[in-house]
Amino acid sequence: MKLDKRYFIETYGCEMNKSDSIDITLSLEASGYRRAENNETADIVVLNTCSVREHAEERVLGRLGYYRALKERRGDVKIIFAGCMAQEKADDIVKSFPEIDIVVGTYHHQDIPDALQHLDETGGPVVRVDTEQYKFSTYRGLRKEGYRAWVNIIKGCSNYCSYCIVPYVRGPEKSKSSGEIVAEVEDLAARGVVEIVLLGQNVNAYGSDSADIGFIELLERLNDVPGIRWIRFLTSHPKDFGTEIVRRIAALDRVCSHFHLPLQSGSDRILSLMNRKYDSRHYRSIIDAVRTYLPESSITTDIIVGFPSETAEDFKMTLSIIREIEFDDAFTYRYSQRPGTRAVLIQEQVPGETAAERLDELISVQRVLSYKKNRAEIGKEVTALVEKPSRKDTNEMLCSTSKNKMVVVETKKPAGTFVAVRLTGISGNTLRGAELQGTQHRR
Ligand code: SAH
Ligand code: SF4
Ligand code: F3S
Repeated sequence: MKLDKRYFIETYGCEMNKSDSIDITLSLEASGYRRAENNETADIVVLNTCSVREHAEERVLGRLGYYRALKERRGDVKIIFAGCMAQEKADDIVKSFPEIDIVVGTYHHQDIPDALQHLDETGGPVVRVDTEQYKFSTYRGLRKEGYRAWVNIIKGCSNYCSYCIVPYVRGPEKSKSSGEIVAEVEDLAARGVVEIVLLGQNVNAYGSDSADIGFIELLERLNDVPGIRWIRFLTSHPKDFGTEIVRRIAALDRVCSHFHLPLQSGSDRILSLMNRKYDSRHYRSIIDAVRTYLPESSITTDIIVGFPSETAEDFKMTLSIIREIEFDDAFTYRYSQRPGTRAVLIQEQVPGETAAERLDELISVQRVLSYKKNRAEIGKEVTALVEKPSRKDTNEMLCSTSKNKMVVVETKKPAGTFVAVRLTGISGNTLRGAELQGTQHRR
């Protein structure tokens, strides 16, 4: 037991990485480490990294300069390089950054205490990046805010979208058994969790690598777990999502009214080059199903601009489908070349300047649409989950709606409880609401 040792974790990347950081936290705490106030007072610093775009990698490499200086000042601090970049580049990292003591890839985030012990014995560096056996988290501790928890239901990705590094750094899809997931969710509910977020790079592929139930059946089971009021899931893949799933979700009163469905491009030619395995017609059919069976839902998406060979015409198709569907929000990215992926081999790369212009245009189109969608919420009565005091006024709480929109409400209710709200206005992109007395709504 290292009772006097303190850790600090810096997390980059997606929800999966944030969830992994919680596993890292819980594994370190189970071994006697305690959270440090900040990185300057930590004995161990973990960088949980992301490789999805060049920018994400550059940010981490930039941080290493800071940690090199910290180590020069303080000698005794141990630097642990974890996550997707660690998995991808372990050898280079060890060679180029002698200040790093431990490298742990995406199969080993629970093994840091063990690696630290090994470091004590060998002097390091200790490298764990083999991909023989993936262990789902065995830690059922409370995660993040006490009322919300992430539940990783499927790891890895087998889709090989041609631009994407994730299948290379996270390995093939592997589902956690439904029995374990239900037990984990029941356990979380018993500890006061009211909202769960099911995680996977493609949650709709859940169960397809085993003889277990599929994603919609899992949702149906979790919908019956007492105490769990809200269920969310990230991320859906349009190729594995369709009318039937939407129709069955409509019957589940715990599943939130928010669909995050990455479209990536409005051009079928680009979608095919991206290896997305659906076309814009299929995508529109899902949107139609959502608007038929669950009209009170929000829909968000991811878009990449400047994918190799994208023409002005292709980009226009993206803008036009964005205007047609009217997403509540879109995460927009400029294509970033990832070594080892297939898109690198496409000859006609789009000049950076053109891609930047397209991104600006897309962002400004979406900004207007997001505002329009948020304005359309005004006047509605909804249930909201109280999250935390608003920064401006401590009488006001920041709350989230089932559609995953933020609303500021004056209420005495504490974080983790639900409040009935009438949406009354909007400032910036945040809705304002007034607390209603009495009954709470279904979603
Ligand atoms: N598994 C999810 C999310 C993957 S990463 C999905 O398939 O939708 C999140 C987003 O990052 C992707 O949806 C995509 O829009 C973006 N992305 C992935 N690789 C990228 C790259 N090389 N360049 C730019 N954006 C990328
Ligand atoms: Fe990447 Fe495609 Fe897998 Fe998403 S589905 S993680 S974009 S390969
Ligand atoms: Fe990044 Fe790894 Fe997630 S590459 S987006 S942290 S799966």
